[in-house]
Amino acid sequence: MYKRDLVSITDYSLEELDDLFRLADDIDNHPRRYNSSCNNLKLATLFYEPSTRTRLSHEAAMIELGGNIIGFSDAKASSASKGETVADTMKVMSCFADIIAVRHNLEGAAYVAAESATVPVINAGDGGHSHPTQTLTDLYTIRKNFGRLDNLKIGFCGDLKYGRTVHSLIEAMLRYENVSFVLISPEELKLPKGLKRQIEEHGAEYEENSDLGEAIRDLDILYMTRIQRERFSDISVYDKVAGVYILDKCKMENAKEKMIVMHPLPRVDEISTEVDNDPRIQFFEQVMCGKKIRRALILDLIERKAETPIKRADEEICINAECTNPKCITHHERGLKRKYKYGKNMDIFCAYCDCKVKEL
Ligand code: NCD
Repeated sequence: MYKRDLVSITDYSLEELDDLFRLADDIDNHPRRYNSSCNNLKLATLFYEPSTRTRLSHEAAMIELGGNIIGFSDAKASSASKGETVADTMKVMSCFADIIAVRHNLEGAAYVAAESATVPVINAGDGGHSHPTQTLTDLYTIRKNFGRLDNLKIGFCGDLKYGRTVHSLIEAMLRYENVSFVLISPEELKLPKGLKRQIEEHGAEYEENSDLGEAIRDLDILYMTRIQRERFSDISVYDKVAGVYILDKCKMENAKEKMIVMHPLPRVDEISTEVDNDPRIQFFEQVMCGKKIRRALILDLIERKAETPIKRADEEICINAECTNPKCITHHERGLKRKYKYGKNMDIFCAYCDCKVKEL
């Protein structure tokens, strides 16, 4: 039997996601039944990038299951500052912990962590690439509000280029029937082409509209995001787009009565506090959903095993190629074997960060 990890939201099938939501509900309804489920077990939270919610909700979740926590919240305080690789750190941490949650600034770092650790690994965000536990949080919140995950129109607003929560949620929603997307962003922060291609390949509908006040009218969900200042290589571009979208009372008047507003948080200035008491605002409820679904995820990963290892790369692809993404971990960490996978049309992608590769 093999361990399971959550590197990408697609590591869990739709049936497994349903099981997870039901487990989260059950823990919520009967917390005492589960409060010693993780007795004598340790969760390591290894955060190379800042975090409030994601790290502390994993930790709160583990404590509520009766487990313990160890870890670091700043890479400078770890041996990464001495040049230790992610792969080595994960092998070391596997001696101390029963499960690891890792956040890193490099894309594909969670893949390396999962491949190197001998205990289950949770991707708590890898650069601008993906953030599957936020996606579990988002799906659980949507399911609580609508009782379904299909037949929904979702508007994503803000930083669709670097917003990893957007990337993972789109990937997840594409697996449900009749979900359509409205992409609301300035020109500089449009959704990466690869993801647009994925939407098209799934036959899902999407439109691009840079006007939030107009786009809001027929949405079921408005997913607001922060402009990710730390990911801009040219800060003058950030200055140009900062504050471009602000959700306020006036815009909320155009929205449906049953629409909900989500945000992974932290917010900066993209949602005015004047709308906080509007019942359609759901982002603090979303935080609570995050802790509940992480309780279920930790328990599930500790107990669930796979008969065969999860396939994330096509081992038979042997080409002389480089990933085209400068933020991919393959360009920064020593000793990593290049790994690739086929997309639709037999295009070849980097297995670590999902970017297209260039043959040399
Ligand atoms: C998000 C993240 O870190 O990607 N926050 C979170 O995990 N809840 C969004 C963000 O930082 O803007």
